[in-house]
Amino acid sequence: MATQKQKKKQKNNIVLPAAILTTFGLAAILTVLVADHTPRSNISENSADVIEELPEITTEVTVTTAETSETTAEVTTEPAPLPPGSVTGLTLSFYETALKVGDTPVMPLVTMTPEDAVDKSEKWETTDPAVATVDGIGWITAVGAGSCIVRVTSVNNPAVFAEVKVSVADPNGSAQAKRKPAETKPADTAPAETTANAAAAGTVAGMEVKDGITYIQGVMIVNKTYSLPASYNPQGLLPEAQAAFAEMQAGAKADGYTLTSASDFRSYETQETLYNNYVARDGKEKADTFSARAGHSEHQTGLTIDVNYAGDEFNSTPEAKWLADNCWKYGFIIRYPQGKEAATGFKYESWHIRYVGKELAQKITESGLCLEEYFGIDSKYAE
Ligand code: DAL
Ligand code: ZN
Repeated sequence: MATQKQKKKQKNNIVLPAAILTTFGLAAILTVLVADHTPRSNISENSADVIEELPEITTEVTVTTAETSETTAEVTTEPAPLPPGSVTGLTLSFYETALKVGDTPVMPLVTMTPEDAVDKSEKWETTDPAVATVDGIGWITAVGAGSCIVRVTSVNNPAVFAEVKVSVADPNGSAQAKRKPAETKPADTAPAETTANAAAAGTVAGMEVKDGITYIQGVMIVNKTYSLPASYNPQGLLPEAQAAFAEMQAGAKADGYTLTSASDFRSYETQETLYNNYVARDGKEKADTFSARAGHSEHQTGLTIDVNYAGDEFNSTPEAKWLADNCWKYGFIIRYPQGKEAATGFKYESWHIRYVGKELAQKITESGLCLEEYFGIDSKYAE
């Protein structure tokens, strides 16, 4: 059954340019754009949306990752009791578009699931109105040369959203001169965080800060105390984490279990949206127990994966037990263990694993400590 928007589009007899339609298959390019989450048959990050772990309602929207060459955006619904009729998933007809200033506006078709969801209202936003604007129903208009993200979020369930990567060329202007790349953001936002990281580095043995990123014994540290610059963007899982996860998937398969990535890399901007959505829904105090503020999420490292399902319902599954028992063999740790909330700063997440390398993963796991306890560091926001 066509959604209201689909009907509206049909009525207006609008035809999307073929170039846009072809983007359906360009999942590889979508990569980072989309967030991660979903029982990855689709995996990884990218496509479309993201959702993080909710305390009770957990929802994660997943995006397809470039690595998987998958196209669709996915959404994973997490465990918890969403009210009947809630939106649990959202897909778009395309996740990337290239426009020129002066082009006819384009609008991705939105499909929310379940079909009988009670409220399919959409909220549209752009990360850079100087590049492209978006109106209340999703029409994207090119404004100036550059790139930005246009995001649509379910009003009913803010944890469900999807993103479109928009590239705009201006035939009448200098792309270089008008471009406002994300690289400019770090300069505006990094100083305070960098200062905090550097200050801590002087007090923790073996800690050093390079380019605003904190390391202990070469291990990247990201938590409520230690942040990443907004400019840090590996565009997906780092190769070592991707390879280790593939190895672990094979090991699990041999034991009869299927592990997928429901969410992995998330950019600073994606995390910002995700966190803000949770704050809007649950309030800041509660959101801070399960969702990291932008710059403070390990998902931005490219070393973290939410396995199968980012929600409490995963805790009691055989896959969760297998993961807890075996992930260290592949270089991963359960990053937010049960009972370690005071040290990690986050609630127990049986699904959230962090790649630290096989040697350290074994040491940390055998110690029974969480990462913060092992290295003797805090995880607390400055304010
Ligand atoms: N759910 C974890 C803490 C994150 O948002 O990165
Ligand atoms: Zn996670």
